[in-house]
Amino acid sequence: MCGIVGYAGKHHAVPYLLEGLEKLEYRGYDSAGIAVNEPDAIRVIKTRGRIGNLESLIASQRHSDATVGIGHTRWATHGKPNDVNAHPHLSEHGLFCVVHNGIIENYLSLKAQLIADGFHFASETDTEVIAHLLEQNYDGDFVSTVRKTVAMLEGAYALCILCRDFPDSIVCTRWASPLVMGKNSDGVFLASDVTAILKHTDDVFYLDGREIALIENGALTFFGPDGAAGEKQPKHIDWSVSAAQKDGYEHFMLKEIMEQPKAIQDTVSPRISSDKRIVFENFHLTDDEIAHLNRIVIVACGSAFHAGEVGRYVLEKMTRIPVETAIASEFRYRDPVLDSHTLVIVISQSGETADTLAGLRLANEKGAKTVCIVNVVSSSIANEGGSVIYTHAGPEIAVATTKAYSAQVAVLYLLSGYIADRKGLLTDDARKTYVDALLKLPDLIDQTLRDCDDQMKKFAELFIPMEHAYFIGRNLDYACAMEASLKLKEISYIHSEAYAAGELKHGTISLVEKGTLVVALAACSDVFGKTMSNIKEVKARGARVLCVSTSENAAAMNEVDFKVIIPDTLPLFAVTLEVLPMQLLGYYTAKSRGCDIDKPRNLAKSVTVE
Ligand code: G6P
Repeated sequence: MCGIVGYAGKHHAVPYLLEGLEKLEYRGYDSAGIAVNEPDAIRVIKTRGRIGNLESLIASQRHSDATVGIGHTRWATHGKPNDVNAHPHLSEHGLFCVVHNGIIENYLSLKAQLIADGFHFASETDTEVIAHLLEQNYDGDFVSTVRKTVAMLEGAYALCILCRDFPDSIVCTRWASPLVMGKNSDGVFLASDVTAILKHTDDVFYLDGREIALIENGALTFFGPDGAAGEKQPKHIDWSVSAAQKDGYEHFMLKEIMEQPKAIQDTVSPRISSDKRIVFENFHLTDDEIAHLNRIVIVACGSAFHAGEVGRYVLEKMTRIPVETAIASEFRYRDPVLDSHTLVIVISQSGETADTLAGLRLANEKGAKTVCIVNVVSSSIANEGGSVIYTHAGPEIAVATTKAYSAQVAVLYLLSGYIADRKGLLTDDARKTYVDALLKLPDLIDQTLRDCDDQMKKFAELFIPMEHAYFIGRNLDYACAMEASLKLKEISYIHSEAYAAGELKHGTISLVEKGTLVVALAACSDVFGKTMSNIKEVKARGARVLCVSTSENAAAMNEVDFKVIIPDTLPLFAVTLEVLPMQLLGYYTAKSRGCDIDKPRNLAKSVTVE
């Protein structure tokens, strides 16, 4: 949430800053700005709106030769998205300039004290407090002033700071919000997300919490929280630059939908040994610990939570351990009962979602076993989990997740099979059948995407004029309905709800009238008949029904208005295919409604505030 970039090197900084901000725009797009060190002063250029507005504003002003600068794209938390609240923020006399990602929780008391001390505030942001505090704490040493200042802050921050007295330097630090940096012969590049600097280097340094980095004359020096300078090893990132580009697709979302066969292939196949066993690297849960687990809790937000809903059914079915799911923002404040026999599975694409990270920390504190399913390597959640299983989905740029969600579900299949096997619940034949079916999923995903692309374009036409839609299903189909409904509403702005099919009649069916669109997910054969009964109930009230199921049920779908048939697989895996037409439905509906698909209003991809 909010994107930060910085550059210090041999070349003009502005083009590098704009290029980085464009890559990070999915993290927030209310306003954007840059600051560069010019001979006499720090020059700030900022504006509300998208990076395009900032580019026009910069083009209309005098050229900057500066070679050191910082930039920011904002997702507003404190203060409206206007020019003044846009980052960067200058201190009282322009000595310091700051871009910030996160929330300073004690900013009101700090602000009151600064006002009493004679400082003046231009913006409504919490960030401006940091700029003024730096000036108030200034002792002539850039790094020590930053250290003194951040010691006064409570909350979350990733900070990049310029100081007029050190025109060749940038100082960065962070707590609970990510920052990554790397260098090549052109200079040092930094960002809140590795995708913004991948083009320049794939050997990067992730800043640890409360660590400070000084970028000065092309060199990078790291200081631990105690102030001591230390060595730091770079991490090699094997995401390709093209993976973070649109590659001819009109939107990242469509590209990422079509990348799902590869994402699942890359996630599953390295975890299957030649004797068809599931294996994980860096997995610290012993067989004895698995044998003594008496409960599993899955903690996540958004679509990661919906992946967890799929996991709940699959894990419980396979392992016979009771499983519950918890929305991270609820879980962290409910004083959950956890002990060493509880396994907490934390799911996050970014590995930085504030509530999910807090949920993981709580589980660790309470002594539960933790396994994290994460896409971004070396992210906070990956670093703090007892074990980590990476999804190999590659960079995901569209705010609405598709391939990362599917890769999370694939890891949950792997984990379910693994735990069931270690508990001795699978015969050799059952294990091989399960693993073989998992290995076939990438091809089936590819086939499903090809088969239903045109069909979903056509069905999207039905949704374009709608104001409401309902998604129903039972068991795994209900888990899919939640994700399908979110996909439609978050990018097309059509109000939609997901219901357990049997629950609709307890109130919501009163909203169904002639012409209401109901999408029925009905790939679970064991409850197909029950879902068909619910379809009849809404049909009787005039609803038009689009139904997704498998070929074995095709003949029995005569009640429905529109059918989508997905390929056959194991019943537990059908949900992975069923969600694909739903992603396409959301995409094509939003496209026809002229929505900003990759950057839906009010949203951001990485939610680092609670
Ligand atoms: C945001 C994104 C969702 C994502 C959720 C959790 O709301 O728009 O796509 O599912 O955050 O993010 P995470 O990075 O923890 O998976």
